[in-house]
Amino acid sequence: MELFIITFFAILAFIPYVSAHGFVSKVLIDGKEYDGNTPQSSAISSPIRMISTIDPVKGADNPSITCGQDAQAAKLTVPANSGSNLQITWESGSGDVDWDHNVGPIMNYMASCGGNDCSTFNGSSAEFFKIEQSGQNADGTWAQAALHVGLPFNLTLPDNLSPGGYLLRHEIIALQGAVSVGGAEFYPSCIQLLIGGSGNGVPSPTVSFPGAYSDTDPGILDPDVYNPGSSYTFPGGPLSNLASPGANSSDSSSPAGSGASGSAPAGASATPVSTTAAGAPSASATKTCRLNQKRMAKRHAREWRIGGSH
Ligand SMILES: *[C@@H]1O[C@H](CO)[C@@H](O)[C@H](O)[C@H]1NC(C)=O
Ligand SMILES: *[C@@H]1O[C@H](CO)[C@@H](O)[C@H](O)[C@H]1NC(C)=O
Ligand SMILES: *[C@@H]1O[C@H](CO)[C@@H](O)[C@H](O)[C@H]1NC(C)=O
Repeated sequence: MELFIITFFAILAFIPYVSAHGFVSKVLIDGKEYDGNTPQSSAISSPIRMISTIDPVKGADNPSITCGQDAQAAKLTVPANSGSNLQITWESGSGDVDWDHNVGPIMNYMASCGGNDCSTFNGSSAEFFKIEQSGQNADGTWAQAALHVGLPFNLTLPDNLSPGGYLLRHEIIALQGAVSVGGAEFYPSCIQLLIGGSGNGVPSPTVSFPGAYSDTDPGILDPDVYNPGSSYTFPGGPLSNLASPGANSSDSSSPAGSGASGSAPAGASATPVSTTAAGAPSASATKTCRLNQKRMAKRHAREWRIGGSH
């Protein structure tokens, strides 16, 4: 059974299937809602940078890995604060509203725009610091599986951010093809925030995009992605000193099912997790996970057959 699934996905990874993907369709910041830019439409007043297509960025060195496919600076840089609560909603852009994938991590980075206005800032020179990362829950499901059933991603901004304009680089990596080099799908999205207050944090360490990832990094090339109980290593280095409150309770290389990588930092992660005494996913949870994987496999197979235009 397990072998069947692994083999099945190994085969799928080599099929040039067309799957549905997505974009950030709205963000709620401390209760205020902003619509996102729909790809290939005219730009609206939004803090969310417009991407040219809902297709994934492929290749860690792709210039589009900064903020998404051919991302254009957004018109607005909108108010937020240290400790603000954000809800980020993804849409598949292919008829059904939910995010379409359910395997792989969600990570969040920030970078100063070097002033107050991010609307002319080129993110390729930005120094990003990692503020949050969400991997697997104790039952083996991934944080992005919650988006797959239509829930927004919840993020709390770090404490003590220095005031000014920032790019929030919110990213999903879909790993259904990650058993082969170049198979990972990157979905970065940048939101332009004007942080107020009087914090004075200096972020460290910082990374750049492109630069932070390589196609052979563990967690991007992941032969064990369908091997329940295997560990997951987040790419992009450690959380910075300015991490979201509670984000440090994630561990960048804990075994799937230990609960640590998916433990829900306050307001920063997906569903609450429960961990079995041994830290291993229960048999029934593992089964559910496998069923989900089978469902996704069927869905992908179907999408491939119909060769959807999305
Ligand atoms: C951002 O800078 C990079 C590197 O200099 C350049 O290739 C790219 O075209 C710039 N993007 C924009 C939108 O100006
Ligand atoms: C999180 O961990 C980093 C790196 O170990 C540390 O520098 C930072 O102070 C921690 N942040 C919080 C909020 O605990
Ligand atoms: C995010 O928070 C909202 C409001 O509390 C909640 O309805 C939703 O389920 C949360 N999302 C996730 C992924 O847990």
